[in-house]
Amino acid sequence: MHWTGAAAVISALLQASCASRDVFSDPGINVDKWHSATRKANALITQLNITEKAGLLTGNLLNLTCGGIINAIPRVDFPGLCLQDGPAGIRTADLASVFTAGISIGATWDPELIYERGRALGEEFRGKGAHVILGPATGPLGRIPLGGRNWEGFSVDPYLAGIATSATVRGIQDSGVQACTKHYVGNEQETQRTLGLAKGVSVDAISSNIDDRTLHELYIWPFADAVRAGTLSIMCSYNRLNSTYACEDDHTLNGILKEELGFKGYVMSDWFATHSGAKAANAGLDMNMPGPVDQYNFTNSYFGPNLVRAVQSGNVSAERLDDMVRRVLTPYFYLGQDKDYPTIDPSGLFVTLAALSYSPSAFSIPDDTPLPPARDVRADHAALIRNHGAAGTVLLKNTKHTLPLKAPRTIAVFGNDAADLSRGSAVPLGAAYAPPQGVPMGVQVMGGGAGSGRLSYVVSPLEALRARAASSNHSMSIQYVTDNSVVANADFSGIYPFPDVCLVFLKTYAAETIDRTSFEADWNSTAVVNSVASYCPSRKTVVVTHSAGINTMPWADNPNVTAILAAHYPGQEAGNSIVDILFGDVNPSGHLPYTIARNETDYNTEVFNVTDPAQVTDAAAWQSDFTEGLLIDYRHFDANAITPLYEFGFGLSYTIFELTGKVNVRPVHGQRTISVFPPKVKENSPGGNPNLWKTLFAVTVKVRNTGDVAGSAVPQLYLSQPRSTVPAGTPMKVLRGFDKVYLKAGEERNVSFPLMRRDMSFWDVGASDWRLPRGEYIVRVGFSSRDIRMEGTIRV
Ligand code: NOJ
Repeated sequence: MHWTGAAAVISALLQASCASRDVFSDPGINVDKWHSATRKANALITQLNITEKAGLLTGNLLNLTCGGIINAIPRVDFPGLCLQDGPAGIRTADLASVFTAGISIGATWDPELIYERGRALGEEFRGKGAHVILGPATGPLGRIPLGGRNWEGFSVDPYLAGIATSATVRGIQDSGVQACTKHYVGNEQETQRTLGLAKGVSVDAISSNIDDRTLHELYIWPFADAVRAGTLSIMCSYNRLNSTYACEDDHTLNGILKEELGFKGYVMSDWFATHSGAKAANAGLDMNMPGPVDQYNFTNSYFGPNLVRAVQSGNVSAERLDDMVRRVLTPYFYLGQDKDYPTIDPSGLFVTLAALSYSPSAFSIPDDTPLPPARDVRADHAALIRNHGAAGTVLLKNTKHTLPLKAPRTIAVFGNDAADLSRGSAVPLGAAYAPPQGVPMGVQVMGGGAGSGRLSYVVSPLEALRARAASSNHSMSIQYVTDNSVVANADFSGIYPFPDVCLVFLKTYAAETIDRTSFEADWNSTAVVNSVASYCPSRKTVVVTHSAGINTMPWADNPNVTAILAAHYPGQEAGNSIVDILFGDVNPSGHLPYTIARNETDYNTEVFNVTDPAQVTDAAAWQSDFTEGLLIDYRHFDANAITPLYEFGFGLSYTIFELTGKVNVRPVHGQRTISVFPPKVKENSPGGNPNLWKTLFAVTVKVRNTGDVAGSAVPQLYLSQPRSTVPAGTPMKVLRGFDKVYLKAGEERNVSFPLMRRDMSFWDVGASDWRLPRGEYIVRVGFSSRDIRMEGTIRV
């Protein structure tokens, strides 16, 4: 195995447009370095007494300097660990950046940019003295279109999500910060995500009931990529899995994560997601967060003194205790965090307290308290974020040559999402940001909860458009109505002269702890669009959505709606990112990481709810059966021949791409017959049996830019396994390759997709292994899941 550092990743990516999958399937852990870190951890362990060992495994909730704290042990020079949310910026810090959300960077389909974001994120966390970023998030995967946290992750497709997770982990850890990939696993809805009280009775969390094949092929898949990439930590989730709490589930923690996937780092609980001591420790939980309290009892802890007692009474073995400590300490030494690590920035705590002190229900800190100095860690990341936001914007419709805009004299701008924020930027805490719709006025650049950040500034679309107008010496004028009720009531009397084009900005809020309730964008969006589309004198209305993900668009076929852009959650540079696209400074290249249906009823999965949660006292009432198995999102649309509005993988450009020649398939396995199961190894390495990661075939196509401007294409490979030898429930086709290829006008390049053993196999429940079905595979290559341009076959 070898270390894949930043330089290697980037240079390999630059050398060949075909290399992304190869690079991101390399192991991310350097074995020699790991062994040396383990030796250091072992040496430290020998100096610790049992109480100190237990102390390394539970947080200190009373210390609010970071989102999570592992206490220092000064006697042995251990400075403690600082854990911060995550995953798109430091949640409670000031002078830190708010990056593009997971769903935005996922929509770029660009591993290089995703890596770059991870690296920049890591630099900021390091700069603030955080040892661990609580991210990336790849659970929820997005099974439920209205899932409240889908936007924190990258895509509903495990293959795309897996590569994005891998690239993010590598970026973060290459900057010296530990990634904590979350939430493992099955945390697909926020409603009853953890246990609650109904009429004073404790009612268990939702149980995600998932069969073994679906678990492997969908929900655990991107976590396997994270482990392969070397994630040093994994956060177990709130929910139950097949009736066992995820943080005490021996099957998925010990069985799958640690044995099958060879994960050597530590499993940390989500906040208050631990529900037992010895049981959880023996099932594979290594660290209890935030400690030292449980859900209801602010003096007790499932770990801490309780763990000490469990070891003393023999309920947890001394070896297991040392294993837990070793798992926590080795990553710290592995990344060299014992040397010259920045101290914890003092502002984090203060930022949190200050926000609490001025929220309606909170304690107060005196007004004359001096502000602690905050370290500015933003560096030149604004430029990256601007670029990432534009790259994650998907052009869905563009008729009548509407975009890019060419020197319009008057632009009319509509919608509350175009405006500056009118209630401050404290998204993490302010009551004003309450779901379901968030604040009435201001651009939505991220969602709420743990995944949000504190904006040190935000560029609204209006601000960026006005700056553009100013730079044209005001030969272009910007007029606007940002009050949605005025727009919906078709009061356009304030707009003159008649605009050359109308821009409508819509937003959709989502936040941790609650699932979305509406498919359409918020704030009366459909009335707003219809109203502008029938008014706009030029008959050119452009709709831009800033959104957590899936929206239905009942107005999409309106002929006066001539362009649609899904801009997702772009982060602090939102206005600049979208203006770059509108004026063609950046050619759109984002593609949908999910399916947009014509009707919301076309989706087959929804939030599980009981009729009246406050009255349901049956502890086991919350059962979500994942009966659709593998058939979520485009796989479901394919299986049931439902035509989507905009399919998974779809995205337009200002230029035109074509595939030329034919699909070329080359075996690279070097064997006469390929074994059905991966050859066994003595011990699985991170990511599982290394043979699963071996490339068996290379598929090559040629992509050409036949338009007249430069742009980036996203050729995609969808694989169909031999129908006769796969079990029922196998999707008709699945994404198993993609690349992002920059092409000048007229340029053509070869793109190669390596197919690994895991990509071609299915999880055989009986054999408990990945089986490569015999027969003929169909390889489909195109520019979306429905825009297939070429086919080839592979016989195994
Ligand atoms: C709960 C969230 O589920 C998790 O994502 C976050 O990291 C922790 N809280 C800490 O804030």
